[in-house]
Amino acid sequence: MRFQGKVALITGAGRNIGAAIAKAFGTEGAIVAVTDLAAFSAEETAKQIQAKGGEAGAWALDVGDALSVCAIVNQVRQQYGKIHVLVNNAALVPRGPGSNVPVIEMPDEMWDLLFRVNVKGAFLISREVSRIMIRDGVPGRIVNITSGSAESARVGAAHYCCSKAALAMLTRVLALELAPHSITVNSVAPGFIQVSHEGPISPARREYMEAFLKGIPLNRFGHPEEVARVVLFLAEEGSEYITGETIKVDGGALAGRTFLPKSA
Ligand SMILES: NC(=O)c1ccc[n+]([C@@H]2O[C@H](COP(=O)([O-])OP(=O)(O)OC[C@H]3O[C@@H](n4cnc5c(N)ncnc54)[C@H](O)[C@@H]3O)[C@@H](O)[C@H]2O)c1
Repeated sequence: MRFQGKVALITGAGRNIGAAIAKAFGTEGAIVAVTDLAAFSAEETAKQIQAKGGEAGAWALDVGDALSVCAIVNQVRQQYGKIHVLVNNAALVPRGPGSNVPVIEMPDEMWDLLFRVNVKGAFLISREVSRIMIRDGVPGRIVNITSGSAESARVGAAHYCCSKAALAMLTRVLALELAPHSITVNSVAPGFIQVSHEGPISPARREYMEAFLKGIPLNRFGHPEEVARVVLFLAEEGSEYITGETIKVDGGALAGRTFLPKSA
């Protein structure tokens, strides 16, 4: 098992991509600190890991709350002895009616809310966990889940695109700052990953998905497990010379101009 004896803390791990990452670490022998905003969802993922013979604990954690971040990170460290891996997966992903609007219509609160979770949350927990990794002499791994939206602009998604671009930059700054401690910091940038949602898919969402699919060379959406596999790759021992890097998991969506025919 690739992560036997290692402790991995995953944020936003109660469902979808975060849950897939937590379960993948569990399957590979890591002790998984499953955290999410809602305790019940973190507990659900932890139970699934335990049911397969893995070791996991669940914590309710709002990554945007500095005091909670400090308290929970220290609890995890106390309970398991060390923290070897941090995955910053928690995010507010704007989906559903009214969640994506052009800048000229965007209320301050909409912008602030996403930055609080997607950027400040990753900053706060990376700060706490890296302090502990340094104190414990752990050559740790931090993996940030960014997005294709960090690089490729989308109409109505300034709040999300800019938050993910900021997280991509935090990855690189932290990579420089933590390199002297042999801690690596990398990003995984998913494209369109098929995840479960509450409620039915609206016609507008369906239209968006069909248009998006046309821009994916591999001609399908991704699966949470495909993101998880790349996170594990960046977190394992053999990847210690990779830092400040972003790996896209997007079926080739950002490789080039899919819509163009062969040059004539
Ligand atoms: N699904 C995609 O197509 C896609 C594409 C690109 C990037 N991503 C990124 O992948 C990650 C996971 O996406 P997903 O589709 O699984 O999203 P999701 O909305 O299903 O899950 C996000 C998780 O974060 C948690 N969360 C929200 N606010 C939080 C807070 N303040 N503190 C702690 N946890 C909080 C939620 O409870 C939820 O469990 C996100 O960072 C997202 O930006 C997803």
